[in-house]
Amino acid sequence: MDLMDAIKGRRSIRKYKSDPIPESTLQKVMEAVRWAPSWANTQCWEVIVVKDQNMKSELTTALPKTNPALSSMTEAPLVIVLCGKKGISGFKKGEAATAKGDWLMFDTGIAMQTLCITAYSLGLGTVVVGSFDHKKAEEILGVPQNVEVVAITPLGYPAAEGSAPKRKEISEFVFSDHYEKKG
Ligand SMILES: Cc1cc2nc3c(=O)[nH]c(=O)nc-3n(C[C@H](O)[C@H](O)[C@H](O)COP(=O)(O)O)c2cc1C
Repeated sequence: MDLMDAIKGRRSIRKYKSDPIPESTLQKVMEAVRWAPSWANTQCWEVIVVKDQNMKSELTTALPKTNPALSSMTEAPLVIVLCGKKGISGFKKGEAATAKGDWLMFDTGIAMQTLCITAYSLGLGTVVVGSFDHKKAEEILGVPQNVEVVAITPLGYPAAEGSAPKRKEISEFVFSDHYEKKG
């Protein structure tokens, strides 16, 4: 698949078929995550692949009832929970290397986009889910103190396509030489 087609064609999918994902396909998605860039190649991400239906149901209790991705969590054959190890990305000898502190969110963000684009190229749907009770999800999944849950995505074959929400024009976010006040 052409890269631009993948970038522009990927949509948030909130309706899934229950068809299982072949192990070899899941491995391709994880292989892509493996090659995501990260701060000093620290690779702080960790991934929990949730297949057990009871565990998926329990995990949905961490989402607000109003989250539009709620039902997709139990519809899709897999739920992928992207975690980050704290105090690694953006750190040198235990000290934060920049005023931004931990770059965990940045690195796991890249990893998630890599996952979503690769999944799309393999015919699979994803939707990044960030609006939930992270502490509750960490308890349910038994995530240790030095690790945090960042985002979740169901992973499965789409039952319905999503429509593309409108994007800003390039001219609305690209500046020349210095910051400009727009509109
Ligand atoms: C960090 C992040 C958190 C998100 N959280 C949710 C969420 O909790 N529930 C949901 O339904 N969609 C969520 N989304 C999906 C966005 O709504 C979606 O990406 C955006 O509207 C653009 O649509 P598209 O992905 O189809 O291009 C999230 C996306 C990102 C990047």
